[in-house]
Amino acid sequence: MSKVKKEYSRVTTNTLMEMKKNGDKIAMLTAYDFTLSKIIDSAGIDIILVGDSASNVMAGHETTLPITLDQMIYHASSVVKASNRALVVVDLPFGTYQADSKEALKSAIRIMKESGAHAVKVEGGKIAKDSIERILQAGIPVMGHLGLTPQSIYKFGTYTVRAKNKNESLELTRDAKLLEEIGCFGIVLEKIPSELAKKISKQVTCPIIGIGAGNNVDGQVLVLHDMLGMNKDFSPRFLRRYLDLNNLITTAVKSYSSDVKSGKFPNKNEQY
Ligand code: KIV
Repeated sequence: MSKVKKEYSRVTTNTLMEMKKNGDKIAMLTAYDFTLSKIIDSAGIDIILVGDSASNVMAGHETTLPITLDQMIYHASSVVKASNRALVVVDLPFGTYQADSKEALKSAIRIMKESGAHAVKVEGGKIAKDSIERILQAGIPVMGHLGLTPQSIYKFGTYTVRAKNKNESLELTRDAKLLEEIGCFGIVLEKIPSELAKKISKQVTCPIIGIGAGNNVDGQVLVLHDMLGMNKDFSPRFLRRYLDLNNLITTAVKSYSSDVKSGKFPNKNEQY
């Protein structure tokens, strides 16, 4: 007999803890605009991440570094307006929390006040501790992000799997425990060995959301445009494409264009 899953209404940070305790997996996707957010919220996604991947996906930058706080707030406020159920988490962009904890708090407050989002996400463990603590003290929920942290891409030089050796895996485990201790409500683990992710999600009580971290964690996150198959050039092993939207859109645009040029569009029923 299959287990009847509990229905969770408006998702809060407490809901996510409850889901982990009940062994119910958490589904998280990124989104950056009103229309797609409305669709994924209605479809029952638990967390919408307004990721700084907007820098790549929406603005066409090579890395996540150039996106600004104002741009993140613009995206986040569109997503918040569309969300009736999902918890909306917003990335603190590069350069808005690293200098000192006071600046980090100011950045997080701007996101919460100006977009209406429910939480922020910060990359880094021990190195970001002071900033995260200060944001938490102000009553703002924080999600951590360890493993492959794209804002540090120039430090590492590659997007390969992280924490493959013993020292790095010990450091990552220490960082995850630290984030839990100081009060993060969840942690994203990106591109790390699945055995390590499994161990960490057993050792910490807050939900662990994986991307390229295997199946033995509390939930998964993907970039929406990648899982919808809009981007043909990005094919990491962890990405499952649920649609081939790139081809579907191309076919639709070609049909439209051909109908316009041949005079088939609009027809008599499509005019006033
Ligand atoms: O910015 C983003 O999209 C992210 C996810 C990949 C976790 O941080």
